[in-house]
Amino acid sequence: MVEATCLKRTIYRLLLLTFTVLLLETRQLHADWYLGCFNEKPKDRAFNISAGNYIVSDTSGQECTSACAYLNQSYAATEKELCFCTNGSYTKYGKASSENLCNTVCSSSSSCNDTSYIRVYSTQDAIGELRVYGPQTGWLLQEVEFTTTRGEAGVNVSYTFDFGDGSYVLTTCPNTTHVYTSVGHFRVKASARTNMSGPIMASTWVFIQSSTGILSLDYPQEIVESENETEIVVTVSQGPG
Ligand SMILES: *[C@@H]1O[C@H](CO)[C@@H](O)[C@H](O)[C@H]1NC(C)=O
Ligand SMILES: *[C@@H]1O[C@H](CO)[C@@H](O)[C@H](O)[C@H]1NC(C)=O
Ligand SMILES: *[C@@H]1O[C@H](CO)[C@@H](O)[C@H](O)[C@H]1NC(C)=O
Ligand SMILES: *[C@@H]1O[C@H](CO)[C@@H](O)[C@H](O)[C@H]1NC(C)=O
Ligand SMILES: *[C@@H]1O[C@H](CO)[C@@H](O)[C@H](O)[C@H]1NC(C)=O
Ligand SMILES: *[C@@H]1O[C@H](CO)[C@@H](O)[C@H](O)[C@H]1NC(C)=O
Ligand SMILES: *[C@@H]1O[C@H](CO)[C@@H](O)[C@H](O)[C@H]1NC(C)=O
Ligand SMILES: *[C@@H]1O[C@H](CO)[C@@H](O)[C@H](O)[C@H]1NC(C)=O
Repeated sequence: MVEATCLKRTIYRLLLLTFTVLLLETRQLHADWYLGCFNEKPKDRAFNISAGNYIVSDTSGQECTSACAYLNQSYAATEKELCFCTNGSYTKYGKASSENLCNTVCSSSSSCNDTSYIRVYSTQDAIGELRVYGPQTGWLLQEVEFTTTRGEAGVNVSYTFDFGDGSYVLTTCPNTTHVYTSVGHFRVKASARTNMSGPIMASTWVFIQSSTGILSLDYPQEIVESENETEIVVTVSQGPG
């Protein structure tokens, strides 16, 4: 039997988007994760390590936390769309006089007397790395299993799997299976997130072949039902640094 923590889901593509949006909207500031709004000096940063693996256009506290966790840094900080890390003191320049300062346009701006404001997060419970494994080849109409691994950190992890054939799955299990209905090379992309970290992404390729000469079957692909599954995640390599 499958672990009780695994949750079976039937997913629409739309739902996948909704899930993401919901997570973002319900993002809350947790005492142990979110440490507050702090002063920073862009010319002599307390957070002097640039996180390499995050998506600049959409930097969230969660994503920055994972990017810094990946670098084995204890603290992460977002400054607008930027993400920085430190393993030293995050209180070097003190706490901002008001939480609201982190909402102002002062970030990165010289009009603010060389002070900017950063949101600081602890990486201690963050997922820092994700890997996905699967067979190099699989057969048409037969289950192909994909398994993911991550560090020990992370509770209540959600995974998404994009099987590369238009099928998606959202699951709380780290492994999953998929039945392909057409042959070819498919890039399987997985991501993992918790409410304090992620998404972290990973991918792998699988070649689906047929023993019967059939190349594809006309299946509806909009809805994918999956059993308790695994995820595959690859680190996103974007951003400065
Ligand atoms: C998936 O996990 C749930 C909860 O543990 C379990 O009740 C269900 O039987 C599992 N489904 C499959 C297909 O294993
Ligand atoms: C994450 O979820 C747990 C409960 O599942 C909650 O206690 C915690 O405050 C949440 N953290 C954040 C940052 O939302
Ligand atoms: C960051 O600052 C710390 C403490 O001031 C220092 O030890 C470290 O070398 C700096 N790292 C970089 C990459 O500048
Ligand atoms: C982080 O630490 C782990 C365990 O010590 C190590 O395997 C990994 O290579 C480190 N990551 C980086 C980016 O240095
Ligand atoms: C950061 O500090 C933690 C705990 O103090 C340590 O385990 C880790 O190795 C440090 N990371 C780096 C990159 O030195
Ligand atoms: C910048 O510093 C000057 C003098 O220290 C002060 O009068 C001014 O209010 C400061 N401006 C901001 C935006 O903090
Ligand atoms: C994990 O999720 C379960 C069910 O939603 C919840 O009861 C529990 O508090 C969560 N744990 C954490 C650490 O978020
Ligand atoms: C996930 O892995 C576990 C342990 O190997 C296994 O029992 C379970 O059947 C797998 N689930 C899926 C959906 O492949």
